[in-house]
Amino acid sequence: MPTDLHAWHTLQQHHSAIRDQHLRDWFAQEGGPDTGSARAARFTLEAAGLVLDYSKNRITAQTMDLLVRLAEEAGLQRRREAMFAGEHINATEDRAVLHVALRAAPDAGFQVDGKPVMPGVHDVLARMREFSQRVRGGEWTGHSGKTITDVVNLGIGGSDLGPRMVCRALAHLPTAATAGGTAPRVHFVSNVDGTELAETLAGLDPDRTLVIVCSKTFTTLETMANAHSTRQWFLDRGVPESELARHFVAVSTNLDAVRAFGIDPANMFEFWDWIGGRFSLWSSVGLSITLALGFEAFAELLAGGRDMDEHFRTAPLDRNMPVVLGMLGVWYRNFFGLPTSCMAPYATSLELFPAFLQQLEMESNGKSVRRDGSPVRTHTSPVVWGTAGTNGQHAYFQMIHQGSQIVPVDFVAPLTPPRGLPGHHAKLLANCFAQAEALMRGRTDEEVRAAGITDEARIPHLRFEGNRPSNTILMEGVTARALGALIALYEHRTFVQGVVWDINSFDQWGVELGKLLAKPIEQELRGGGGAAHDASTSTLIARARAALGGGQG
Ligand code: F6P
Repeated sequence: MPTDLHAWHTLQQHHSAIRDQHLRDWFAQEGGPDTGSARAARFTLEAAGLVLDYSKNRITAQTMDLLVRLAEEAGLQRRREAMFAGEHINATEDRAVLHVALRAAPDAGFQVDGKPVMPGVHDVLARMREFSQRVRGGEWTGHSGKTITDVVNLGIGGSDLGPRMVCRALAHLPTAATAGGTAPRVHFVSNVDGTELAETLAGLDPDRTLVIVCSKTFTTLETMANAHSTRQWFLDRGVPESELARHFVAVSTNLDAVRAFGIDPANMFEFWDWIGGRFSLWSSVGLSITLALGFEAFAELLAGGRDMDEHFRTAPLDRNMPVVLGMLGVWYRNFFGLPTSCMAPYATSLELFPAFLQQLEMESNGKSVRRDGSPVRTHTSPVVWGTAGTNGQHAYFQMIHQGSQIVPVDFVAPLTPPRGLPGHHAKLLANCFAQAEALMRGRTDEEVRAAGITDEARIPHLRFEGNRPSNTILMEGVTARALGALIALYEHRTFVQGVVWDINSFDQWGVELGKLLAKPIEQELRGGGGAAHDASTSTLIARARAALGGGQG
């Protein structure tokens, strides 16, 4: 039980002792007047091309010692080795968890159930390289011999959020689609709301469109509905059924279902049950990335992930970026009791990173029972939210600065802009750093008065308490390698927190009940017999059934 660990109790006492101290004072005390240089240096880490400044957290050196001790007492090193060793740490699904193998060198010795996995991983990578080169080079054509200009990835959750986020983040690479270039435009459709698919297909030429049906299980309702509708879209526009193979490829672990759908198994890109959906962008789920950006960019992404894996596996816990970040999250969630955390990337290119992180953290660690089925008895995943800066500043930062609850923020900032106009990037970075500084320092009544405010009644409104924590992560730029390291950083941070809470971060049973209940409701909406529902649900179904006119929709 995490709450029974010795370090947990010590941290509770320590929290009581320091919770009223102010970051502003710590900065003033440590390292000379107002500079805090010793604090800034002590609480900064560099790894895999990323810099993490965690000095603006409500911590002392003792806090970090205790948090590391908690990680040790929770068995982090042992659990980390179990993951890298291919043990079935996803016990409720009886599966290994080995996404780290996807970005490892060919001679890495990863095994699952005594069998080496690297040959399979690199076979699939070689097929992805060849296929992406053929499509991008114009050698793979549609049924009428025309080159492919548009790729549609049909997938949801882990089969969508990761590749969608990466393609968005790296759209500035010179190898990405440009007007008149040869790289195809890549579109993502996830929702079963037909609007998304209809709007995407509306602008496309079926002769020049390639579809990736991306689903680990190949049974997911949304993806299969979109796949069947897209198939019909081709047929309705005169593509012969016998030629559909030129327009459909699959990414899946389920060969039988791929075959049953009518996709040639030769055009299936395999992955394995030891890859969780939300950890799968490094696998053939990244096929859309190779098509959008070229295989070399994908290889760079893998290299960045590998850099972070190496750091996570070998760095001492107190200098280990995913461990430090993970334990800071535990500090706020469990000792300060903070229910949410904000991801604020100061890069429009990274605007989808918060959505990616929501699945990664909340699907992984949104659990209430421990690995043995007993209650956790403490809080687990916070609500993760955020948008790209500086937009958030003009929306919800008011609440983060002066609201009644504290929201820890992770600022992520590339030091060089992916692209942009002269003068913008300094403004962007200035705002990022200013937000973190303002959250930390606040503004005292004296400072408000010194700024010329004489109306005492206004002072409470203009006061900022400060002492609001944040991390700042700097990337050299939004490069494929730095992005790979950033994603792997958050993957491992999620793992670290799951270890402390003693939960299985790799299953997702909580998504099943709603899926189950949707089936009979859909039958009822189509005019079929009714299942037993509560009065609220029955009334909603009746209203929708009337609107749909029995069987439409
Ligand atoms: O519903 C949750 C989930 O199982 C996710 O974990 C997964 O990423 C997503 O659905 C998609 O699953 P699949 O790749 O099997 O279609």
